[in-house]
This record gives sequence, structure tokens and C-alpha cells, in this order.
Amino acid sequence: MTQPGDPLSLPLVRPRRLRTTAAMRRLVAETAVAPRQLVLPVFVREGLSEPRPIGSMPGVVQHTRSSLLKAVAEAAELGLGGVMLFGIPAEKDAIGTGATDPSGILNLAITDVVAEVGDALTVMSDLCLDEFTDHGHCGVLGTDGRVDNDQTLQRYAEMALAQAAAGIDMVGPSGMMDGQVRAVREALDAAGHVEVSILAYSAKYASAFFGPFREAVDSSLEGDRRTYQQDPANAREGVREAVLDVAEGADVVMVKPALGYLDVVRAVRDAVPVPVAAYNVSGEYSMLEAAAAHGWIDREAAILETLTSIHRAGADVILTYWASEAARLIR
Ligand code: PBG
Repeated sequence: MTQPGDPLSLPLVRPRRLRTTAAMRRLVAETAVAPRQLVLPVFVREGLSEPRPIGSMPGVVQHTRSSLLKAVAEAAELGLGGVMLFGIPAEKDAIGTGATDPSGILNLAITDVVAEVGDALTVMSDLCLDEFTDHGHCGVLGTDGRVDNDQTLQRYAEMALAQAAAGIDMVGPSGMMDGQVRAVREALDAAGHVEVSILAYSAKYASAFFGPFREAVDSSLEGDRRTYQQDPANAREGVREAVLDVAEGADVVMVKPALGYLDVVRAVRDAVPVPVAAYNVSGEYSMLEAAAAHGWIDREAAILETLTSIHRAGADVILTYWASEAARLIR
């Protein structure tokens, strides 16, 4: 005999009712990723005559200046939120001269892309020296061989001005130097570029999941970036970095990588008033592609689940190599 108040006397609660049909599931879905929230990272390499496949990232290429324009026009057509440009120069040196040269590959590509897509996309660029330095570090080295924070800030300020002059909408300082957002904001404002916005790579971890990207940009790095990128063990510190970047003038803050750091995405989302981005990085892309190539995973379902999960964790914006394909799948 059940007594009033005994749980067994209550009717069975049936959450499955809300899962009975596709229409019902669609009706009650808590989150949905839209193409406008996706940003496509693209690589453009100086001196190429044909797009060059990146072996470690099947389906992704280093673009020529003209194949890049096709990719960004398609991104605009698909209603993506933006593109993030990475440049691979023919020549590298200790201070990354190619990054600030107005005719450096990245600066030329910015002008090309803005001319192609106009205001249909937010055009973003990586603001970092690693693709341009012969030692492969994100900054300039001091006499002790370590990355010198404050000398690097001067180079970032110059790089911001070169990108602004080329017509960029949003710069993405990604080198994890202290004060990089403030240095970039001050330089832009002093030159009258008050409308150029900043996507700060705020909580960027020293991650093994950047591995395939190293091939994508022909990285010269030996060793690692652990004196400037964050320790994967630390979540609170990621929030601290994001809060500091907002105080320094970041318009959007980013957590990177995404999948191993969804707790950090959530914590940052709860801590700052600005949009939060997450970067679904090269290793996350390549792992899934490799498994799918073996027939071990349902590729399209896994892509959409990945992006939905990053969004559900709190990312308003997602950088992903699947951006154009995902936009088609979502439609
Ligand atoms: C630095 C930069 C890196 C990535 C984006 N910007 C590499 C690094 O910090 O080592 C990695 C992106 C990816 O793995 O998809 N310019």
C-alpha cells in the first residue's frame, strides 16, 4: 500500500514525451547553431600557383590569392559570420618583418578579401608573429633567447596598424603576450582606427591539439609555447585572462581549443559581458576526419554534434574548419 506523499503514488514522470517526434524535438531544442555564428579560418600562402592540400588536415588547403577569393565568396553566400585569415610568407626572419610589410602576404590578402566580400562577412586576421618568424615563436626573442613580452607588444602594435591600413574589420591577437589587447587598442585608436574591433585569444592553451596546424602554416617552431600559452590544468586562470582582456578593450574574447575546454568556455561566458568565441582547432578537426575516413564515426552527425556542444557550453561564435560545410548541413 502506498501512502499519500510516497513517491510511488505519483504518476511516472515521462521526459521521453518531449522526444517522440522530430517536430517535437525541434520545438523544444534549447540551442541551435546558426551559420551567422560560424567563422571559417583560411590559409593563404605567398607564391603558390595552385591550392596546396594540407596533409594533416584532409579537406583543408593553403590557398593561392585567387582561390582564397572563391572560398570567402562562398562563405559569404552561405551566410557565415566571418572568415579568419592566416598568411604564410615565402621568407621569414627573427622579427617577422613580413607581418608588418604592407605588401606582405597577409596584408595583401586582407585587402583582396575585403574587396571581394565587402560587409557581407566580418573579415578577421590572425595578429601574431609565429607564421613570420624564422624561430617560429609568437614574439621576438630577447638576448636570453626567451620571448620578450614588451618588445613583442611593439611589433603587435605595428602589425595592427598594417592590418588596419589593409582594411581589416577585426584583428585577432593570438600570441598570449601580457597587455597585447591594450597595446593593439591604443595603437589603433591613436591612428584613428577606432572602428577596428578586437577578437582577443584570451584563454589560449599550450595544446597538443594545434599539431596539424603547424603543417598548415609551415611552422618553424622547435620546442613549445609553454612560457606564454596557458597550462591545460588551469581553468580559473583562463577566466582571469578573459576578464583582463575585456578591461584592456577586447570586443570579443576567445577560448582555444574548444572541446577539451568546454568548462572554460562556460566559466568565461558567465564571467564577461562581451561575446565569447571558441576555436574548434586543427587537432579536433583532424581526429574526427581520420575516424570518419576509417568508417568509425558518422562524419556529418559528429560535426553537427561537435558544434552544438561548443555552442551549448556557451560559445556565441565558433571558429571551425567545417564552417562552410556545416552551414550547408544546417540549412
Ligand atoms: C598562432 C595560432 C595557432 C593557431 C591559431 N593561431 C598555433 C599555435 O598557437 O601554436 C592554431 C589553430 C589550430 O590548431 O587550428 N598564430
